[in-house]
Amino acid sequence: MKIAFFEAEEWEKEYVRKRLGKRNSRILFFSGVLDEKSAELAKDADIVSVFIYSKIDKKVLNRLPKLKAIATRSTGFDHIDLKECRKKKVLVSNVPSYGENTVAEHTFALILALSRKIHKSYERTIRGNFSLEGLRGFDLKGKTLGIIGLGNIGKHVARIAKGFEMNIIAYDINKDKSLEKKLGIKYSPLQNLLKNSDIITLHCPYNKSTRHLINSKNIKTMKKGAYIVNTARGGLIETKSLVNALAKGHLKGAALDVLEEESLIKEEIQLLSKNFPKKHLQNLLENHLLLTFDNVIITPHNAFNSEEAIQRILDITIENISCISSNKKCRNLVRI
Ligand code: NAI
Repeated sequence: MKIAFFEAEEWEKEYVRKRLGKRNSRILFFSGVLDEKSAELAKDADIVSVFIYSKIDKKVLNRLPKLKAIATRSTGFDHIDLKECRKKKVLVSNVPSYGENTVAEHTFALILALSRKIHKSYERTIRGNFSLEGLRGFDLKGKTLGIIGLGNIGKHVARIAKGFEMNIIAYDINKDKSLEKKLGIKYSPLQNLLKNSDIITLHCPYNKSTRHLINSKNIKTMKKGAYIVNTARGGLIETKSLVNALAKGHLKGAALDVLEEESLIKEEIQLLSKNFPKKHLQNLLENHLLLTFDNVIITPHNAFNSEEAIQRILDITIENISCISSNKKCRNLVRI
């Protein structure tokens, strides 16, 4: 069995070798992504393991004729052409859940940064300025937190919020009434949540029906002076409506770990390409405007990135590879 890890970090090598080495004869590691060119390095691999930056399409798959499985070290698998995998009988495994606490903790890091103006305080003191002017924050105790999407992460956010003695309301299309008592929350229709929350935090998936869940129409119905936090997916918020609400002072601040079309920000060099789709320019401009507000905090899609979560991702990937390579049932196979 030959297994090739792409996008591998140094520390992962020994860890993986120790755990998979006995059962499997050869394990290769590459720090770069798997693409048409680098596929040559793994042309006789039985299993490849990748992170989200390796786009595995038909062309890449054609260069891996012996491939039996792809073990992605992520929850999402939209970087893999599942249709082509089905045709070629290539299995795909993922890591469906690795740390609701991890993203929930980052969400609270952002909420506290907004409520206590940590970002502004830090910027000021590193310049030797210890003035308190403009740094007055607000208490979380007694404030209403509106959680949109009360799944694994949303529930953990609710547990943390309880510790701060916040009132919690939640909107979810799938209600589990027992959670009201368990978590001390109240379900609410979306409109009511928008109207009554001091802070709104998003934790639902991004899909056709949730695209621009927060938009120009309903952002106006949010409580004046409210804050919004997004650690789910950028496309849940219509960026233009957020920029306007902040500019008009209707919203007092925002903290975002994710942005619409955020990949364009990472790869600004793409702008120079004549193939760059012009339709994305507006998004880029809106994201740029967000960066100019001092009451907006942006982190670079980093909410998942804790040592423990990364370790869990690797452990589950190793389990997936072990099961697949020994023909045992794998609990994390993606249905293709
Ligand atoms: P989950 O599947 O456990 O929970 C999602 C919840 O959203 C479910 O309760 C579902 O019923 C609800 N929901 C679905 N459609 C809805 C709608 N239209 N309106 C309201 N609620 C709706 O997912 P989990 O693990 O809590 O993750 C939530 C999201 O967090 C993921 O979809 C992902 O986009 C994001 N995420 C972000 C990370 C980061 O690093 N920033 C890392 C991991 C996840």
